Amino acid sequence: MDSLGLERIARERLPALLRTCPKAELHIHIEGSLEPEMIFALARRNGITLPYPNIDAVRAAYAFTDLQSFLDIYYAGAAVLKTERDFFDLAWAYLERAAADNVVHSEIFFDPQTHTERGVPIGAVILGLAHACRRAHAEWGLSAKLILCFLRHLSEDAALATLEAALPWREHFIGVGLDSSERGHPPEKFARVFERARALGLHVVAHAGEEGPPAYIESALDILEVERIDHGVRCLESPGLVQRLARERMPLTVCPLSNIKLRVFDKLADHNLPALLAAGLCATVNSDDPAYFGGYLNDNLVQTFAALPALGARDAYTLARNSFEASFAPDADKARWIAALDAHFIQATQAL
Ligand code: HPA
Ligand code: ZN
Repeated sequence: MDSLGLERIARERLPALLRTCPKAELHIHIEGSLEPEMIFALARRNGITLPYPNIDAVRAAYAFTDLQSFLDIYYAGAAVLKTERDFFDLAWAYLERAAADNVVHSEIFFDPQTHTERGVPIGAVILGLAHACRRAHAEWGLSAKLILCFLRHLSEDAALATLEAALPWREHFIGVGLDSSERGHPPEKFARVFERARALGLHVVAHAGEEGPPAYIESALDILEVERIDHGVRCLESPGLVQRLARERMPLTVCPLSNIKLRVFDKLADHNLPALLAAGLCATVNSDDPAYFGGYLNDNLVQTFAALPALGARDAYTLARNSFEASFAPDADKARWIAALDAHFIQATQAL
């Protein structure tokens, strides 16, 4: 793309370019796409009484001070999800928004333990989500895949039991991840369950370096042998680790609005995305928990670029290209999406 003259694209044109370009999303928790309106609708459908009088009161409760204060509310919200149809509706609502953002491929996290602990059968969770993914592909050509996450505040034995319980539905998920409270729950706590997942041919990723130290990123790489790091923004505290991540072209799934809402950075203008890109890292932009953090993927991109003058059209191209390269999609799909991305940017420069 060097010959394209991306530098000639004016800043005013960036929002439209970011919104319209094809892209992949690699870090979205489906339970984090549960909008307050749907919390109320599902509570009504399932005969659940909520501790909030109305939707505004739910939104007012979204004042987070750190990861744990968010997780407490996120798990409480998820309690309205009971049936296979609920999980279908949840995923379908997200996929409609993703399609509107020109997402052509999404790898979606889900937290089965949040639901099985409440007595929801794991098959209902997986089948409801998988049905929506299948339908998005059939109706819009949007490729959507599932990644089963273990809750790191629970034990490794619980994670192992969850993986075994999910195996009758093995064909419906492509990988495993690790989320929830990071501090005090280092990746090495889950060495055996990740070894088992790898042996089953599953892709492996883990949240690391969001609130936790760079050492957690290192143990996710060395002990869990992950193929991507979710968040990873604290890697910049360790120059040796940054060099390694660049050398290994290890993707980071960065979530800017999440980082602001959970106070990893004070404001978007302070976000280290430009520094991650300048260091040659394979960074991507993602929405994490869009219903809680104030925006879906295009909102993350547009707001981040608006706040950071160091980011330009070349970075917009690089982030979208990284999103495809870092995905677990087949090479032929990646090549097709990257060709469409190139065509999009070629058209943008020719329109100058
Ligand atoms: N970090 C850890 N766990 C999570 C997150 C996150 O950003 N979102 C949902 N579960
Ligand atoms: Zn996350």
